[in-house]
Amino acid sequence: MLSFIYSVFFWIGFLAVVPYLALVAYAAYGCPEQNLKTKYNAKWALVTGGSSGIGAAIVRKLASQGLNVVVAALDDQTLVNFKSEIQKEFPSREFRFVGCDLSTPDGQAYMDAVKKATADIDVQILCNNAGFITTGCFADITFGRNMANYHTNVTSGVIMSHYFLNRMLEKGQRGLITFTSSSAGFIPNPMSALYSSTKIFLTTFAASLAAETAEDKIDVLVVHPSPINSNFYSNAGKMSALLSAQKISSPPSVIAETICRNAGKVVVADQGPITVIMKIVLSKVLDWNVFTEIMKLALPFTGDYKAMKVKRNAKSQ
Ligand SMILES: NC(=O)c1ccc[n+]([C@@H]2O[C@H](COP(=O)([O-])OP(=O)(O)OC[C@H]3O[C@@H](n4cnc5c(N)ncnc54)[C@H](OP(=O)(O)O)[C@@H]3O)[C@@H](O)[C@H]2O)c1
Repeated sequence: MLSFIYSVFFWIGFLAVVPYLALVAYAAYGCPEQNLKTKYNAKWALVTGGSSGIGAAIVRKLASQGLNVVVAALDDQTLVNFKSEIQKEFPSREFRFVGCDLSTPDGQAYMDAVKKATADIDVQILCNNAGFITTGCFADITFGRNMANYHTNVTSGVIMSHYFLNRMLEKGQRGLITFTSSSAGFIPNPMSALYSSTKIFLTTFAASLAAETAEDKIDVLVVHPSPINSNFYSNAGKMSALLSAQKISSPPSVIAETICRNAGKVVVADQGPITVIMKIVLSKVLDWNVFTEIMKLALPFTGDYKAMKVKRNAKSQ
């Protein structure tokens, strides 16, 4: 009887982890870089949050493959600087820059600008990448800031995907839609509750969309990066878990490479060892109920939580 129970547990563990690791190995080592311009017979791509970090690396990679790129990002100095850098780096490519705020609820203003900028071109590669993290307890962050985080990370990707997917379908074009999600979505994340929730939304949305668009030859890819060195951390506040993650971060170019290797090969790309270990331990081995109970017990002992309490108490006095 006992050996039967052992073998049931063995096979459950085996089926949960081994096919996953086989696909991770295939995605990491079995997929050589593809030229996305050739693969999708495309001329234009659009990258949101393309002015810095991962987005800027994606723009560079696509331009190096011969694609022209529309960059949609906040209309600030980062975009101004990136504009002059990228045009110097790739003088024979065409770039269009849409300075816009993707944090609005209905997307009307930025979609007007995006539609105008892309009216005479076919965007066949859409990289939904813009995003940021808001740290602290949900209740202490203003409602407006929480919703701006939500709309940038989630709503903008949904609106853009709906628009460009329909344009590709109308013209019967091949294409690629990518989402930059995060391993933060694998687990409950107190002190950045909204961020992790937006990221798991993207993963579920992308994986569902991928099945709907497969017959139409439009690939969907969602990437879960291991820590990547970018402005993400400087904009995140001083949370100790994030500061530790930054110390072991890789350059943004690894995500651009992952996209070029994995487009059309897998739907979910778990990039790097941190993401893979987190996926196995925190979402395959530990149940969410168990993990949440551990979090509830551990959180009050963390420095970030204690600092938040001090701040909250000072405010209420
Ligand atoms: N870095 C990591 O370790 C990591 C790990 C997992 C997932 N990610 C995800 O990767 C994506 C890219 O982040 P990153 O690491 O490259 O950080 P980043 O360097 O800060 O880049 C974020 C990009 O999004 C733009 N952006 C932010 N808010 C915007 C808004 N309201 N409207 C328009 N554009 C906006 C930024 O413009 P400005 O520069 O002008 O603000 C920038 O171009 C994000 O979705 C992030 O959640 C990052």
